[in-house]
Amino acid sequence: MEIFHISAECYPVAKVGGLADVVGALPKYQNNAGHLVRVVIPCYDSKFRNENEFECVHWGHVKLGSFNFPFSVLKEKTDKLGFELYLVEIAELFDRKDVYGYEDDVERFLSFQIATLDWIIGRNDVPDVINCHDHHTGLVPFMMLYCHKYEKLRNTPSMITIHNGLYQGQFGFDKLHYIPEFDLAHVNVLEWDKCINSLAVGIKCAWAVTTVSPNYLNEINYSANGLESLFNLVRYKSRGILNGIDIEVWDPAKDVMLEKNYSIKNFEKGKQENKEKLCKLFNLDPTKPLFSFIGRLLEEKGGDLLPHVAALALSENYNQINILILGSGNPIIENQLNSLLADYKGNYNTFIGYNEELAHLIYAGSDFLLMPSRVEPCGLNQMYSLRYGTIPIVRRTGGLKDTVVDFGDDGNGICHDQATVGDVCYSIQRAVDLYDDKKHLNKIRKIGMSTDHSWERVCQEYIEMYNLIIKKK
Ligand code: GLC
Repeated sequence: MEIFHISAECYPVAKVGGLADVVGALPKYQNNAGHLVRVVIPCYDSKFRNENEFECVHWGHVKLGSFNFPFSVLKEKTDKLGFELYLVEIAELFDRKDVYGYEDDVERFLSFQIATLDWIIGRNDVPDVINCHDHHTGLVPFMMLYCHKYEKLRNTPSMITIHNGLYQGQFGFDKLHYIPEFDLAHVNVLEWDKCINSLAVGIKCAWAVTTVSPNYLNEINYSANGLESLFNLVRYKSRGILNGIDIEVWDPAKDVMLEKNYSIKNFEKGKQENKEKLCKLFNLDPTKPLFSFIGRLLEEKGGDLLPHVAALALSENYNQINILILGSGNPIIENQLNSLLADYKGNYNTFIGYNEELAHLIYAGSDFLLMPSRVEPCGLNQMYSLRYGTIPIVRRTGGLKDTVVDFGDDGNGICHDQATVGDVCYSIQRAVDLYDDKKHLNKIRKIGMSTDHSWERVCQEYIEMYNLIIKKK
């Protein structure tokens, strides 16, 4: 089967969050399963772009209303990522360091979608299926169905995978003229709540909709930032498919970013060595349990709770626990976290920013990983942490509920129901007690380390979904 993935992120080329990890891994496993897989993302000014060789396979002009942007499509020469990678280069819009957050994001991602489709229709072969990811590519299914110039793709099935329904890519009808010519009888398809809502459009027009966990699909029927009724309407074509993790990249036995490799057979010693390295780096106490957080410091992830949780948990258990935070996001949260540094020296530290190598060491060297998310469509960090023998402490929401079961129910982690300081601190207290019972602690670590979250299984579910829509042709 010939599959196109269109996305804003793909690890290791451009990463902001979990979307990149998924788009960097799923295609590789689909390719291994014998499919021809192509991934298309915008060409940002990235390290990967600058350090690898590309050949230009197509060029043209994107017409966006009265704007005219030259673009080219660059193919990575070696296919070393395990699939064919294409970068759509529109220098004026994407030759920048960051992936998102610019005033012209609407123009940027709309141009990217148009350029991608212009290129695809210019090719000899038509793909069997186009898999879009999140709102940045949500207009693709609409344009395939209704824009005159993409008529060739009218019969090509499209699927949209929702990694996060909070972000929807809305813009006003004053920009309607950006969309290539289509029959205006269908203009209402673009509308949701008086705006053009890219995610809603993708959900309406794609032949199938998937979310990144089954439980998130249930949740968005009653809580989806205004899209609840739409999700109810499209249930018939929706499915929740739990993400996997790339077990080649995330393997404590082979991970070159660790101080010491280990497996389920010798994890106690291996984890301790990584912990000591981490504690040395961050001036923490390796004899005490280490609680870490890795991720974006946003309300969505419960980031606003962290300064209060840290202050409370450290003052109650001062000198008994360590807390380490790696992440960036809301500057207010960043400042609050840093303001605690002086008070809890030796037991608390932060790294504001993102560092992939450090993240690996933290998964390996921590005892517990905090994920107090308010919204978590799937969550990958809890799966990484399970694989590295680090016990996740999660709020029961979205994919966290699908993957972590409380140890009180013979599970692999610690769970709480509310995203509140009290609930998180109570879980920390339970973790401290558990830490003192090494036999029990190690039993739970082993349950986590032996859980299978590999993509092989998940990849098959995507193919089944593609086959369902291909049959509808
Ligand atoms: C988004 C979601 C996260 C999910 C990831 C990959 O970042 O917030 O929960 O795991 O996408 O699908």
